[in-house]
Amino acid sequence: MNMNWQHLTLLVLLTGSNQFVYAGDAQRGKVLHDENCTKCHISLVGGDGTGIYVREDRRIDSYSALYNQVKRCKTSLGVPWPEHQIEDVISYLNTKFYKFDVPNKKADD
Ligand code: HEC
Repeated sequence: MNMNWQHLTLLVLLTGSNQFVYAGDAQRGKVLHDENCTKCHISLVGGDGTGIYVREDRRIDSYSALYNQVKRCKTSLGVPWPEHQIEDVISYLNTKFYKFDVPNKKADD
């Protein structure tokens, strides 16, 4: 019995809100993104780098593809981000640029 309450409390803490769907926070994600993710992209496409997300021949065509690309780029960046920060950045990118339907569970489960 007690355990159930602990789990529920933990879940609420982890999602940071009463929303149990995908937990990314787009505003936190934008800060992380702008501090960490623009340098390479600017060298590729110029401007502020966000052109890479809307380029004609972009390869990202689904939410799970976006998820996997962000993980790849995060790895080449070498930052030790926990899952929730990855989700924040994905949430930012998806809200601002990609606008895919958000699945209820993680794309690589
Ligand atoms: C080490 C350089 C580098 C860093 C740092 C980097 N990226 Fe990338 N990113 C790339 C390259 C190169 C591509 C293009 C890959 C391709 O064309 O297949 C790319 C492409 C992408 C795309 C797909 C764009 C499209 O075609 O729609 C996303 C999304 C992305 N990066 C997210 C991120 C995020 C989020 C971060 C920060 C965690 C990040 N990147 C940091 C090099 C980098």
